[in-house]
Amino acid sequence: MKKKIIVGNWKMNPETSARAREIFSTISRRAKKFKQLEVVICPPAVYLGLFKKSSAKTGKNFSLGVQDIFWERSGPYTGEISPAMALSLGASFTIVGHSERRARGETDLVVSKKALAAARAGLRAIVCVGERERDAGGAYFEFLKNQIKSSLAGARPRDLRRVLIAYEPLWAIGKSFKEAMKPADVYEMSLFIKKVLTDLFGKDAALAAPILYGGSVNFENAGLIVKEGEVEGLLVGRESLDPENFTKLLRTINGL
Ligand code: PGA
Repeated sequence: MKKKIIVGNWKMNPETSARAREIFSTISRRAKKFKQLEVVICPPAVYLGLFKKSSAKTGKNFSLGVQDIFWERSGPYTGEISPAMALSLGASFTIVGHSERRARGETDLVVSKKALAAARAGLRAIVCVGERERDAGGAYFEFLKNQIKSSLAGARPRDLRRVLIAYEPLWAIGKSFKEAMKPADVYEMSLFIKKVLTDLFGKDAALAAPILYGGSVNFENAGLIVKEGEVEGLLVGRESLDPENFTKLLRTINGL
């Protein structure tokens, strides 16, 4: 059985490097024990250097990631971070196209450039997709299909080996934990995404790309979402900043 991938997206938190160290050291220490998991922490990139050494020692089931990446190798791109820079600070994953970035103007085209540059440079790209809202007529299926297609524009089947799809319906992000998507609906969407990937890239490539769910996941709802939703992992926001609850979440998924 493949390891479940649990990604913690810290977003623009915590406010100090001292607090970042505290959260990181607790989580990384505990994550070692959960051998059925691949745990990925995505702190703000400015904190990566603090964690490089200890994450290298933590072992194979623990990795670092960045929350965004740029597609050029170097040059006059103020504020941007290249895949090579992220790799050199110990990151092996990057999130791309998070809805909070899309809301501030990031287009599918930009997302596709970032995803391809990251994957081809050796990072694993967690490409975020998800509908803004649901309509009774089911137009969100078409929306999602188009969003996946254009967020992976230019990708070849072999690029999918370094791509993960994080399905995060916007209406379920940052809500109360009771408002996370129902496991049966997660299952429906994960099947749909696999079908879209199969149509675009073929069966083998589609099978190689793990599907994660994100949106108001906590230690209480995580187990059912993974088990009944049949996703290969989770993208966790707030709960990944609470070491106690995040440990409970990891323990639950590790025990499935
Ligand atoms: P949340 O965030 O878990 O706090 O809802 C998820 C995300 O935005 O990736």
